Amino acid sequence: RLLIIDFGSQVTQLIARRLRELSVYCEIHPYQNVTDSFLADFAPKAVILSGGPDSVTREGSPRPPASVFNMGVPILGICYGQQVMMHMLGGRVDTGHGTAEFGRAFVTPADTRLKLLEGWFAEGKEQVWMSHGDHVSAIAPGFDVYGTSPNAPFAITADLSRHFYAVQFHPEVHHTPNGAALYKNFVEMAGFTGDWTMGAYREQAIAAIREQVGDRNVICGLSGGVDSSVAAVLLHEAIGDQLTCVFVDHGLLRKGEAEEVVTMFRDNYNMKLIHADEQELFLGELDGVSDPETKRKIIGKLFIDVFQKHADSIEGAEFLAQGTLYPDVIESVSFSGGPSVTIKSHHNVGGLPEKMGLKLVEPLRELFKDEVRALGAELGLPKSFIGRHPFPGPGLAIRCPGEITREKLKILREADAVYIDQIRKHGLYDEIWQAFVAILPVRTVGVMGDGRTYDFACALRAVTSVDGMTADYYPFSHEFLGETATRIINEIKGINRVTYDITSKPPGTIEWE
Ligand code: XMP
Repeated sequence: RLLIIDFGSQVTQLIARRLRELSVYCEIHPYQNVTDSFLADFAPKAVILSGGPDSVTREGSPRPPASVFNMGVPILGICYGQQVMMHMLGGRVDTGHGTAEFGRAFVTPADTRLKLLEGWFAEGKEQVWMSHGDHVSAIAPGFDVYGTSPNAPFAITADLSRHFYAVQFHPEVHHTPNGAALYKNFVEMAGFTGDWTMGAYREQAIAAIREQVGDRNVICGLSGGVDSSVAAVLLHEAIGDQLTCVFVDHGLLRKGEAEEVVTMFRDNYNMKLIHADEQELFLGELDGVSDPETKRKIIGKLFIDVFQKHADSIEGAEFLAQGTLYPDVIESVSFSGGPSVTIKSHHNVGGLPEKMGLKLVEPLRELFKDEVRALGAELGLPKSFIGRHPFPGPGLAIRCPGEITREKLKILREADAVYIDQIRKHGLYDEIWQAFVAILPVRTVGVMGDGRTYDFACALRAVTSVDGMTADYYPFSHEFLGETATRIINEIKGINRVTYDITSKPPGTIEWE
């Protein structure tokens, strides 16, 4: 197994992800925990030293134990990891002098005969992502230079006799397009055969949950979305009846959704599930409210109150489980570091654990969405759950601009079901990131048969996206759109006009509110 010593970089988890993609088992441990005896017990086959925000020139800044360099295993140092290697092995690192580099840079080879660089420099130079204030000003004895960038003369260095590699940039991020090759070369040199699987991850995650939770009880908010479903099934497998799930039905779910969730988890999985039917409460509080932010705030607050009420009824619960994913973790510490405005106040149960005095269990904290789906499949969750489009916490409330009424919700549910049915029938569901209907707060005139109608208009939305941050509208064929409009108008009483939303994000958002 491979050990990643974490010096606090925001992208350390991406290193782990790159390694999992290569089917290599790794563990991330914060540098404070990595002592001589830890290293001896762990017996890594290779070590990666991550980046980090500190400066090695600062007294008391993080170090790995010196013994790591005497283990005879390959070591890859990245950014801060490179600098700490140079510093500890006899080179020099300096701060400032205008050599800080943030963002895109191009590395050119000084010597291409390095296995680490196999597949690199086919076009003469490689784009890499730099993010460093300090720089190496003298490399340690035994090292040679294999690549340079305008601001980093020691961008790629290696000591071949000891299998030590040190790079100034971040090969794990997207903006180093060929970075995966570098990891592949590194793990191959270290002798990994790439035989690690999601099945192994599952076992490890289960063991970790058991260790954290012991014989105590856990509450889990279950929404029926991919993340909370996978988290719940994993926890259930780990601790069985020590887990109780709370499913809050706020009356803003899609057609058949509540029944599906209850059947799936209570009947198929035999989980302890509290089905909190709180429709009256939510819809009552939302009555007459049309401002989008007010809607979100009302729902967010009620959700927490209701969840807490039901959770309080569970004896002796000490943990709250959440399906937090790694992107949620990075987003919450803000990768860019810049202050950003609130476009929409996103709804989740943040703040609940402190309020309720519960400890957190977050078994998916290291994973990315596609990995969560793979884990879900591994746990036997049906494709209909794993492959689901995202559904926002405030549910249909934000797909019903203007006042929310039961009548509109009913029409919206039916129209949405027809639309999704159409998408599935045409085999398009998996190509689309998210698709839904929004019911518009206008009635328009139409003619059906020999009669005049005066019914609601609706908008169909379908977008492609990789992360929900940016999105493009899906290019349905005119035939598809025409057929879907006809079906919706014919099958659903209350809608007589269908439009297709062709706004990208930005400038639009995916949801209507
Ligand atoms: P927007 O509308 O901001 O949505 O472009 C981006 C993605 O986030 C989902 N979304 C939410 N998810 N709570 C959630 O859990 C929310 O309050 C919320 N608002 C939007 C949206 O469905 C899309 O996938």
